[in-house]
Amino acid sequence: MPAKIVVAGSFNTDLTSYMQRMPRPGETVHGERFVTGAGGKGSNQAVAAARLGADVTFIGRLGKDVFAELAYEIWDAEGVNRDYVAQDDEVATGVAPILVDSSGENSIVVVLGANLRVQPADIDAARDKIAEADILIVQLEINLDMVTYALQVAKAEGLTTILNPAPAAALPAETLALADYLTPNQTELEALGVGGAVVEAARSLLTRDDQTAVVTLGSAGAQIVSGAETALVRSFDVDVVDTTGAGDAFTAGLAVALAEGAGLAAAVRFANASAALCVTKPGTARSTPYRHEVDALLAAE
Ligand code: RIB
Repeated sequence: MPAKIVVAGSFNTDLTSYMQRMPRPGETVHGERFVTGAGGKGSNQAVAAARLGADVTFIGRLGKDVFAELAYEIWDAEGVNRDYVAQDDEVATGVAPILVDSSGENSIVVVLGANLRVQPADIDAARDKIAEADILIVQLEINLDMVTYALQVAKAEGLTTILNPAPAAALPAETLALADYLTPNQTELEALGVGGAVVEAARSLLTRDDQTAVVTLGSAGAQIVSGAETALVRSFDVDVVDTTGAGDAFTAGLAVALAEGAGLAAAVRFANASAALCVTKPGTARSTPYRHEVDALLAAE
């Protein structure tokens, strides 16, 4: 049986410009290519998990505009259940202008629009679906009280929860405590208000013995911090084209592998492979890999 995953989160239309180097403040530079694509951390994670073989339900909000069509198109193409996606009469679908330079680094502005109008009723409507799932994933592109509420509902229904604390923000202890797994990158770890070396900073986020932080470190891999256990799981050597969405591919990979019963180190290796393949292609949701690609990369090691 496939892993059952519910993602409560954002959809954005990504407006991505590729250029040699980022403009400095006040400067204009020439872009080489422009692509409109499906994005948003929540939706990217839902699409990535579906491509990795999971049965995925997405909870979120769109506007009633042309960008919403892009969301339905990719969810339908990838088999993501969108029965619990509402459309808002008053606010536009989220958008994200993105700049990507020749090294694949990105800068993103999110204008979250309808994502910020996700309501408790949107999550309640999916309660039966949540109850039958293995894992719930949330990120920080919907309102914080909705992130917390989704985690509370998932815990009440006995699910494993993953909080991808992105984009970077400080979070209340109450919200952090509801996450079984936290997947910050280093910037997000710093924003959570904990200083020092990665392992100590990550450990200070954990308030339960059975909580785990997995800090993504780009090409250096991912650092596991769980109770007394720490381990660095190395990344894969790939040619980087566009790093946008790598964190989403990682979180989705972790969720799918854990839901399928993999041990923690194996799940993080699977997540690393998912993220590594994502950065070899331009785009966000559309650059997340399919299961056979991840399996091939893992088998080639
Ligand atoms: O993680 C990448 C995503 O961040 C992009 O798709 C963009 O929409 C922003 O949400």
